[in-house]
Amino acid sequence: MNQPARLVVLVSGAGTNLQALVDACADPAYGARIVAVGADRDGIEGLARAERAGIPTFVRQVSDFETREGWDAAITTVVERFEPDLVVSAGFMKLLSGDFLERFLTLNTHPALCPAFPGMHGPRDALEHGVKVTGATLFVVDAGVDTGPIVAQVPVPVEEDDDVDSLHERIKIAERAMLVEQVGRIARDGITVEGRRVRIGPASR
Ligand code: GAR
Repeated sequence: MNQPARLVVLVSGAGTNLQALVDACADPAYGARIVAVGADRDGIEGLARAERAGIPTFVRQVSDFETREGWDAAITTVVERFEPDLVVSAGFMKLLSGDFLERFLTLNTHPALCPAFPGMHGPRDALEHGVKVTGATLFVVDAGVDTGPIVAQVPVPVEEDDDVDSLHERIKIAERAMLVEQVGRIARDGITVEGRRVRIGPASR
């Protein structure tokens, strides 16, 4: 069997998407292994989840660097050390530099149906807009905010009595399942990105 794909997962908070990947990676047939978990802040549950799973962690906090460029370089250097095949930004609330994105194929998960409601408040913005269906999007990170080529999407209905938390929690259930399924497929079969088109599967000859 091929070596499992090496994943570096970046987190900023609760880390439930990370946990779903940790659980999936416990099965050797899944085809991926998390070699490190990185964060932009200390003391978060995402890091504790990694530590409980025996996964190496690192923290690079923007405020510890004189310039944003300094942080950009530091996060690139530390991720490089783990030689990832794929980086997964799972609730990581920082933009990554162009240099980082050129070096590492990076996926991000967003709690809305892109291109709708980009940014930090996808569930809130969807609720305020009054949409009846929202969802989650897995995409290849590019220079924009939640603008990259789309790998997969899952719809989630908005219920009449939803508040931001209840809607986000429902989205996250669908989001985790999508993330686990698609990252596994990519780890086992590969991914090709041509312009905005993403295809999972062996490279065609
Ligand atoms: C997820 O819903 C993720 O899509 C969202 O933060 C949550 C993290 O949850 N990310 C964004 O809104 C980025 N724009 P988790 O820490 O439990 O995985």
